[in-house]
Amino acid sequence: MPAIPRDDSFDSTLALLSDGYTFISKRCARFQSDIFETRLMLRRAVCTMGEDAARMFFHPGRFTRRGAIPPTTLMLLQDLGSVQTLDGAAHQRRKQMFMPLLESPAVDGLAQAMIRHWRAQLAKWERQPQVVLHSEVEEILCRAVCEWAGIPLADPEARQRAEEFSAMIDGSGAIGPRNWKGQALRMRTEQWARGLITTARSSRHAIPEGSMAHAIALHGDTDGKLLDARTAAVELINVLRPTVAVARFITFAALALHAYPDCRARLAAGEDGYAECFVQEVRRFYPFFPLIAGHVLVPFEWRAHRFSEGDWVFLDMYGTNHDARIWDEPETFRPERFRHWDQSPFNFIPQGGGDYLQGHRCPGERITIALTREAVRMLVSEMRYDVPQQDLQIDLSRMPAIPASRFVISNVRRIEPVARPAA
Ligand code: HEM
Repeated sequence: MPAIPRDDSFDSTLALLSDGYTFISKRCARFQSDIFETRLMLRRAVCTMGEDAARMFFHPGRFTRRGAIPPTTLMLLQDLGSVQTLDGAAHQRRKQMFMPLLESPAVDGLAQAMIRHWRAQLAKWERQPQVVLHSEVEEILCRAVCEWAGIPLADPEARQRAEEFSAMIDGSGAIGPRNWKGQALRMRTEQWARGLITTARSSRHAIPEGSMAHAIALHGDTDGKLLDARTAAVELINVLRPTVAVARFITFAALALHAYPDCRARLAAGEDGYAECFVQEVRRFYPFFPLIAGHVLVPFEWRAHRFSEGDWVFLDMYGTNHDARIWDEPETFRPERFRHWDQSPFNFIPQGGGDYLQGHRCPGERITIALTREAVRMLVSEMRYDVPQQDLQIDLSRMPAIPASRFVISNVRRIEPVARPAA
């Protein structure tokens, strides 16, 4: 069997940290191959990219995520005992708990909650000389998702919780102080979430029946037993934290509105289907999740390479979303490309790919799209603002990436939304 290309450096961990989002794609280009071998954290690792690699990686049952993500990242994201660390029947049973997130009542309910909180904040922004959009939107999303999930949140608490979720997200791809801050703040969040689970289980009406928090508190796993309070708290956080993380896509969307005024004009004109294309292009173009890792569960062959049980394999998500074989001029921001997208679950993978229930694909994808679309509508149709001079650069070695200034806006004014005739 021919050997796959191998990165000659003894260990590539530092190169991964300095190349960031482009680590895998740069080497694939150099080796003229969608697969190569390297060493990361002193362990052998196989790196892959492209649509065919995604089809290989997201094949149901082939990989486990267990042990594949460094613990410092795992503990800030999905965490031990979460749905992402499960496989097979246990995974499917737990995943059922998240499947309602993909349906209209959840998607629309959360989007409406965000709009209400956005309008309330807008009134405050009008009285401030300038605001940092990214942190403001994190707080809006924190308030919205807690309200929607049935979690009581006193007004002063909202800022604190938003900061905790923000630190977890921001620290997830870092080593050192940024990561430690996330870990420290997460302990507070876990304590709070455990308290909510206990309340939902013990006192009637404190957490409304039918809400997401209630559903998690009363979910039975394959053995029919309730999740232990720590695991239930982890899963509750796994709905709240990533919803706050949508602020990153919203910030990137605001940046795109600023950088591409013609796109803003087309959105303002209400061009049919354009808003959806714009949001998809934001999720394709801007860097969020760089890559995903798994350990082989069942040996298989791909591209004449034998993958053995336990092999550590990476799939380049950002690189696949920027692969010129899939996307014409991938470094150009062009929403209308999504008018002709073939809807493949393997060529556009900002939140994972393949099947939602059988695999680990993100159950929050529709919520993410709806929240970003509504946020874009707010930015275009319900407010006016200036974008003062600031550092809007995105450093691709920083994971997760964000514009350096986090997008500052000034001179914010509310405007009445224009009612459009139904299409
Ligand atoms: C902010 C944008 C988001 C991004 C970039 C994102 C990305 C991802 C990725 C890459 C995965 C792992 C896929 C895999 O292992 O194959 C994932 C899984 C997951 N996401 Fe998201 N996500 C986002 C938003 C959300 C939202 C809004 C929610 C919930 C409301 C959510 C809940 C989850 C859960 C529960 C899983 C674990 C699924 C499983 O293991 O089966 N995510 N997400």
